[in-house]
Amino acid sequence: MSTQQENRFQAIIAHAKEYGFVFQSSEIYDGLSAVYDYGPYGSELKKNIRDYWWKSMTQMHENIVGIDAAIFMHPTTWKASGHVDNFSDPMIDNKDSKKRYRVDHLIEGFADTLIAKGETQKAESLLQEMEALLAKEDFVALKQLILDNKISCSISGTTNWTDIRQFNLMFKTEFGAVASDNPDDNIVYLRPETAQGIFVNFLNVQKTARMKVPFGIAQTGKAFRNEIVARQFIFRMREFEQMEMQFFVRPGTEGEWYKYWKEARLQWHLSLGIDASKYRYHDHVKLAHYAKEACDIEFEFPIGFKEVEGIHSRSDFDLSQHQLYSKKKQQYYDADVDPSTGKPYGNYIPYVIETSIGLDRMFLLILSNAYDEEIINKEDGTTDSRAVLRIPAKIAPVKLAVLPLTKKDGLPELARELMDECKPFFHCFYEEKDAIGKRYRRQDAIGTPFCVTIDHQTKEDGTVTIRYRDTMQQERILMSKVRELVMEAMM
Ligand code: GAP
Repeated sequence: MSTQQENRFQAIIAHAKEYGFVFQSSEIYDGLSAVYDYGPYGSELKKNIRDYWWKSMTQMHENIVGIDAAIFMHPTTWKASGHVDNFSDPMIDNKDSKKRYRVDHLIEGFADTLIAKGETQKAESLLQEMEALLAKEDFVALKQLILDNKISCSISGTTNWTDIRQFNLMFKTEFGAVASDNPDDNIVYLRPETAQGIFVNFLNVQKTARMKVPFGIAQTGKAFRNEIVARQFIFRMREFEQMEMQFFVRPGTEGEWYKYWKEARLQWHLSLGIDASKYRYHDHVKLAHYAKEACDIEFEFPIGFKEVEGIHSRSDFDLSQHQLYSKKKQQYYDADVDPSTGKPYGNYIPYVIETSIGLDRMFLLILSNAYDEEIINKEDGTTDSRAVLRIPAKIAPVKLAVLPLTKKDGLPELARELMDECKPFFHCFYEEKDAIGKRYRRQDAIGTPFCVTIDHQTKEDGTVTIRYRDTMQQERILMSKVRELVMEAMM
């Protein structure tokens, strides 16, 4: 990361704290590493992103329904899914600082420094070599790659590395109060993904909601991973939220559905008005043995292009595994006629296309894209500056600020009338205190797209001054038109 990128990232983190978006968890006790709390505007923004995703998945797709599964699941779930045996990352420890790194993060970090020095070619071939070795799980050669490139620990500065080992990322806890001779009997895991709650409910949902393949099940909720973290704010957390959708399809059609969801998910991101040049696909070279295709949607964060969402063609792996471990059939009867045989397709275990996006990571994406420090050239020749969050109106925490110019002459009463009219439809904010310019700046900083000022002229002709966050332009409109204008912008 260049100094400029690092400064921008730090400015965003400071802004998020100062304006009530994100706080370090248990901050008064010096925080808990990679765990964060969302403040008043943060929780509102997060909810709006979640709702926007949920609506686009369920309301806008007649063949997708939602569920809300528990975080605790039967421990065999994680044996069946492969998480107990395989949900681990190759790690390496620096013997001098005792700091542990994920091998891919260590090498990627080094590649970033090469890119910053203009050695892009070298960085690309290093990353290619890393991916190939990771795919083969050749840890001896991976360590050699680290040594050959003299990749050092950021704390000790040395290249005194241990061998590479696998480290399981699932958190364990104990379930129930009954002591058992075998301590393993009481172990449950905090789910590391929400997807398995969907798979184990596949038949419950299919039958009760009378769904026909192809159909999807969507879910949002917390997931937990004991990540080895670098200082990346909410990009990589130990407790985070996912928004996942599993789309069940007839075997043989997974290729076309993968293509469909790959494109549809990118379009969802672009529907928030974010510049397409900030996105790119990263097609996976290293595929899980059951996976047919997989890609990430990457966004240009201040820390570089990084994954925000994954689209995975998972074959019938998960349902087959649950059938095997639970000994309960996970089949679907397809009554549609196969034109090649003239008979119904019959029983099969559906194939799955998964779309999986991190809500916190999407939040960071929105914040990174929205944050701007702007220099304003004033009419008198002087300059001013403002910090503004250009958050799309449809997900902005507050849509409208209603600001009476003074606290007297009946202006607050008129402003309250507008508040009462708009409050049932969208989130509004009322403020009388301080000069109007100061109040505008505070709304800019939390990303409020519209401010309306009620002044003495409002009493005479029913008009108000509306001020647009992005352009800072102001115009007079009828107070009776404000609600409609804001609602149009939210569409
Ligand atoms: N069910 C598939 C699955 O969980 P994943 O690529 O491990 O796939 C999906 O995770 C998404 O969840 C990622 O693209 C990312 O946005 C988010 N995510 C994963 N680990 C995260 C973490 N430690 N902190 C924040 N978000 C995370």
